[in-house]
Amino acid sequence: MAKQRVLSGIQPTGNLHLGNYLGAIRNWVATQEQYDNYFCVVDLHAITVPYEPGALAANTYEVAALYLACGIDLAYSTIFVQSHIPAHTELAWLLNCITPLNWLERMIQFKEKAVKQGENVSVGLLDYPVLMAADILLYDADLVPVGEDQKQHVELTRDIVLRINDQFGKKGKPVLKLPEPLIRREGARVMSLTDGTKKMSKSDPSELSRISLLDPPEAIAKKIKRCKTDPERGLEFDNPDRPECHNLLTLYMLLADKTQVAVAAECQDMGWGQFKPLLTETAIAALEPLQAKYRELRADPDYLESILREGRDKAAASAESVLARVKNALGFSKAL
Ligand code: TRP
Repeated sequence: MAKQRVLSGIQPTGNLHLGNYLGAIRNWVATQEQYDNYFCVVDLHAITVPYEPGALAANTYEVAALYLACGIDLAYSTIFVQSHIPAHTELAWLLNCITPLNWLERMIQFKEKAVKQGENVSVGLLDYPVLMAADILLYDADLVPVGEDQKQHVELTRDIVLRINDQFGKKGKPVLKLPEPLIRREGARVMSLTDGTKKMSKSDPSELSRISLLDPPEAIAKKIKRCKTDPERGLEFDNPDRPECHNLLTLYMLLADKTQVAVAAECQDMGWGQFKPLLTETAIAALEPLQAKYRELRADPDYLESILREGRDKAAASAESVLARVKNALGFSKAL
């Protein structure tokens, strides 16, 4: 039986952090052998809010190199850049014309981001989930590993598929494949170091709120030293009054690759003065090999480019065939 297809992506907006690694990339790596995987760097999504043009290309290469440094293996996975494949924007247009406006207006992430942008909300920000649907559908993906915050966008994708298949499909011959979200509980939510009730985020103005994957050991030590804790002695998971405690123990558990039971036992009598150095040492040791691999990759730009070129060619073959299928179903004349 053919392997199921997996597709996911991360925006090249800089500051890839422990939340991206522990909540996303590490899970992709853990199960990659079971699936036929496509991982893209979604640079077209990165321009839906104001951004720095001079940094876009460098950030795109950074994410691609981090995918590899984190252990994405080309034997099982294809890595590519969204904007290298014009079919993404073309399918997004076709999907735009069958997606009701009010489906997009009720997306929670749009509403949250629109409030932050004030007057300056682009059409692209509203349309973001349709482009994401195109990303998924061009590869006939079965599964889409995402965080809880992206689940609504995968559900929108499913609604678009059902609508297209209903309006343009023939009986027993759907136009598009219906994907499923794949949401993992464990490590899915890494919280901010300065507020245990908020997600660790690339856009938090405080650098102290997150550990970036490329932070040098001194920065990691400083951030853990300054992170928010509480005055209690004895550390525990799952106490709703101690969100920071739960988050820091979870980070330790994931970075040390230990079970929750083992960490709960190990840390139950510790104070913060004992735990923080342990977490620091564990985080530095966990990131060190990844950072070394990253530096090696960045030292050889030709190699990285050759991987992205191969990824593009492989991804384009799938994308172009799905796009042709959709255009045919929608009634377009054959391209000459
Ligand atoms: N919107 C996703 C995020 O910000 C990124 C993304 C774009 C994505 N296209 C995708 C994720 C397709 C999964 C599949 O996290």
